[in-house]
Amino acid sequence: MNADVLIIGSGVAALQLAKKLRQDLNVIILTKSTIKNGNSYMAQGGIAAALGVNDHPSKHYMDTLEAGRFHNDSDAVLSLTSEAPSLIKELNQEGCLFDINSEGTIALGMEGAHSENRIVHGGGDCTGKTVIDFMLSKKNLNVRIMENVLVFELLINETDGSCIGVKGKDSNGVIHRFFSSHVVLATGGCGQLYEYTSNADTVTGDGIAIAYRAGAEIADMEFIQFHPTLLYKDGKALGLISEAVRGEGGRLITEEGRPVMAGLHPQGDLAPRHVVSQAIFHSLEDGKAVFLDISSIENFKSRFPAITKICEQNGVDISIGKIPVSPGSHFLMGGIKTDLLGRTSIPGLYAIGEAACTGVHGANRLASNSLLEGLFLGKRLAEWLNEQPSSKPAKGLTFPDTEFRCLIKESLPSIQEIKMRMMKNAGIIKTKEGLLDQLAWLKGCKIEEWIKAELDDLSIEEVTRAFMLIAAYLITDSALKRTESRGGHFRQDHPLESPEWLGKRIIQSRKSEKD
Ligand code: SIN
Repeated sequence: MNADVLIIGSGVAALQLAKKLRQDLNVIILTKSTIKNGNSYMAQGGIAAALGVNDHPSKHYMDTLEAGRFHNDSDAVLSLTSEAPSLIKELNQEGCLFDINSEGTIALGMEGAHSENRIVHGGGDCTGKTVIDFMLSKKNLNVRIMENVLVFELLINETDGSCIGVKGKDSNGVIHRFFSSHVVLATGGCGQLYEYTSNADTVTGDGIAIAYRAGAEIADMEFIQFHPTLLYKDGKALGLISEAVRGEGGRLITEEGRPVMAGLHPQGDLAPRHVVSQAIFHSLEDGKAVFLDISSIENFKSRFPAITKICEQNGVDISIGKIPVSPGSHFLMGGIKTDLLGRTSIPGLYAIGEAACTGVHGANRLASNSLLEGLFLGKRLAEWLNEQPSSKPAKGLTFPDTEFRCLIKESLPSIQEIKMRMMKNAGIIKTKEGLLDQLAWLKGCKIEEWIKAELDDLSIEEVTRAFMLIAAYLITDSALKRTESRGGHFRQDHPLESPEWLGKRIIQSRKSEKD
């Protein structure tokens, strides 16, 4: 099958790209599950934009750099924060209905590490659903969506090294080839690598593993954000409790009512996420449960309908005013290295959204900058692709860069084992010993062979485990190399930020490792 533009993934970045592409282009969206089964649809908090009377993009810019511990690409931050207000206004004018205040203008909430109220939200705490439903209602006729197709391989033209398509497997295990001169990975991050996560079950690092296997550069994989507040019951994390709850006055307390964040950071409960997550983690390690005290929030149920439902479904009674919480993996700041148009190191291959690493988030993403990044890069890439001369997708000359038949299936660990080991050895608090232990375990799982193995005869579940293993390897390897702590990356054996590491990025590429 041929397309002018082939988009893998169906979150906000993918749909924004599809919406903004010229209508004479033939666009195919391939998604591994159903169209709404992803992180964007579940996003609660909102979209950050400097729209308030006292706010300015320069303040949003500074907050983004501060949360990212100045590891950010400052040009990317400048463009993102400057364009945020117009991206929101554009969506609103097209008919996407955000929540409004008593004056009839867009209501602006507060979240951690923001110096102003600037969180635009929809449906209370259903912002992702609001935006995705709106985008799907506006889908152009030239865009075809194919669900339940897992893309597992890039087709690379060996003559010039460009990406010319993908191989995907449908739910019956049948392999299909899709050809295009423009292949866009919008496959999200890798939150499901961890035992505790806010992420949809589809978010398993696929795009990053596929790109790495094909030789693309991957950057900043050590920077994983752990969200401080997931609903926590019976030793399990059961869904996100948005930071917007703390923005509306929720407070973190222990069983005895002691404020968890007292004296730890000037912004208290609304400190950057890594600071709050580490505080809760230490309390839980000491056997002291942590709760979100929501007793001061009026109209909790109408302001937070999705969170109310998550609590009800899991038998947590919010009328007592306390929600038990634990941190869990939430967002990958690293990913497939791109420029500000989404172009990767492989011609014809692009990445946008959480799968990409433009450097905009630095070492830790500021709350509600992720849907924003999807809107921003989806639009930018569309504008660039719309200007490209039409070229016939190459066909035939495809030699996937695999070197072995897959004879190592039995070395694949279970998903549960990957998640438990990542949480323990490459999670909120890392050490050299834990990371070396993780690396040795990955080697025992034949990671070097999984990076090049032929995947055609694997089931979808086996491919998923192989991709999780590759993403786990990329995180562990980078985390071992970065001998400092910064933002989402905390090394107990190097607990401080080091000026020597400031501005240094760890780039991983299968090509350079082969050289
Ligand atoms: C939240 O609602 O707390 C999550 C929003 C985000 O990750 O930006």
